[in-house]
Amino acid sequence: MSMRNYVIVPLVALLAMGCGGTGDSAESEGTPAAAADATSDLTPFQLEHGIGPITSPMTLAALDPALAATGQGVFNEKCSACHKMDVRYVGPALGGVTTLRSPAFIMNMILNPQEMYERHPVTKELLAQYMSFMANQNLTQDEARAVLEYLRTQASP
Ligand code: HEC
Repeated sequence: MSMRNYVIVPLVALLAMGCGGTGDSAESEGTPAAAADATSDLTPFQLEHGIGPITSPMTLAALDPALAATGQGVFNEKCSACHKMDVRYVGPALGGVTTLRSPAFIMNMILNPQEMYERHPVTKELLAQYMSFMANQNLTQDEARAVLEYLRTQASP
């Protein structure tokens, strides 16, 4: 199978879905859960917290500056090619992402992006909007957690 076919076919299908829009009442501006509709095959947990290795909600302690500094290093190396904090780039701005999505959702997005853009309604919508795929950067769970800590420091008050 050629790479080309693989990339183009799902994008076209998603774009068609994204532009149609008339049938679905629950568009996903706010919380991921708001995107739930009767046809979704995802569990309520997955709708709110994403699909991937994190399978229970995460409660975060007070900000850990050392962990955030580690995360900043990982982010600069593995994420900054596609994301900025304040403006749209290849992917969405991430400055406010910790106020938009749950910690587990962000972890699952980092650790399992392909399944997220293939199956999660919120991420499918982002794919249609940004017309690029988030490539899996193969972070360990610890690295992803550090990046999450860094993202917490970037949320505007
Ligand atoms: C090749 C470009 C690329 C790289 C590298 C990349 N991303 Fe993404 N990211 C995207 C795109 C594009 C999207 C929108 C979803 C999609 O189309 O797959 C996205 C979506 C996201 C989202 C979801 C935002 C939301 O509002 O739900 C998060 C969180 C995220 N990326 C974090 C990261 C982190 C952290 C890294 C580094 C480990 C990273 N990304 C690396 C392109 C990238």
